[in-house]
Amino acid sequence: MRPKVIVNVAMSADGKIALPDRTEVKISGEEDFERVHELRNEVDAILVGIGTVLSDDPKLTVKRKYVEEPEHPLKIVLDSDARTPEDAVLFEKGEWMIATTEDLDKEGWMKCGSGEQVDLDILLESLGRMGVKKLLVEGGGEVISSFFEKGLVDEYNVFVGSVIIGGKDAPTPVDGEGSQDEKGIIDMEFQGYELMDDGILLRFRVDGT
Ligand SMILES: NC(=O)c1ccc[n+]([C@@H]2O[C@H](COP(=O)([O-])OP(=O)(O)OC[C@H]3O[C@@H](n4cnc5c(N)ncnc54)[C@H](OP(=O)(O)O)[C@@H]3O)[C@@H](O)[C@H]2O)c1
Repeated sequence: MRPKVIVNVAMSADGKIALPDRTEVKISGEEDFERVHELRNEVDAILVGIGTVLSDDPKLTVKRKYVEEPEHPLKIVLDSDARTPEDAVLFEKGEWMIATTEDLDKEGWMKCGSGEQVDLDILLESLGRMGVKKLLVEGGGEVISSFFEKGLVDEYNVFVGSVIIGGKDAPTPVDGEGSQDEKGIIDMEFQGYELMDDGILLRFRVDGT
């Protein structure tokens, strides 16, 4: 069985997740960080795309500051062309896996299809077999878009912060091609909200999952 997929992202009040040049910006605050680290601690694996690794170099760990005894879920990167830098900070602590389409016989690297990009069905099937029941997808916009396009998202959580970033080239939570007609729009069910920091967390369940 494929893992349950939870998407979590933070965006500005004008729907952007980073600066137009893709530099990371602080959108939420301590309350939201604590929620995200607790969420990371509840899942079996956390996934990001190579775009996020190259722009943010994220640790993807659970900080002791927020969770007393962290579980340290598996960290996964979607990286078709094996561009993850050897000194990426995510390699420093805990277990990691790079999903690629390259034929690499390297520990920690897994080939998922031979198309242009990592085949998400193959990846999720393998993760299911490895015992991953809950997968947290943290971005960026291209990766989240692929999960939505393939109908693989079960929950969508978005924190909306009280900032405007602006710029038509700034990444958004769901980039990619987008819906081409009304039929392509993805329906969700609103599950609730929480006020935190200087913003609001919105929770949705994705219809048909
Ligand atoms: N505010 C937030 O919550 C938040 C969270 C995370 C990231 N971000 C921001 O998001 C930006 C990065 O987002 P991004 O859209 O540029 O990059 P991304 O979504 O992190 O990564 C996209 C890349 O992943 C690779 N990939 C491999 N298989 C894929 C598949 N099946 N579907 C989609 N992508 C696949 C592709 O590169 P290859 O073909 O080379 O493999 C693709 O270009 C940064 O600015 C970062 O700061 C914000």
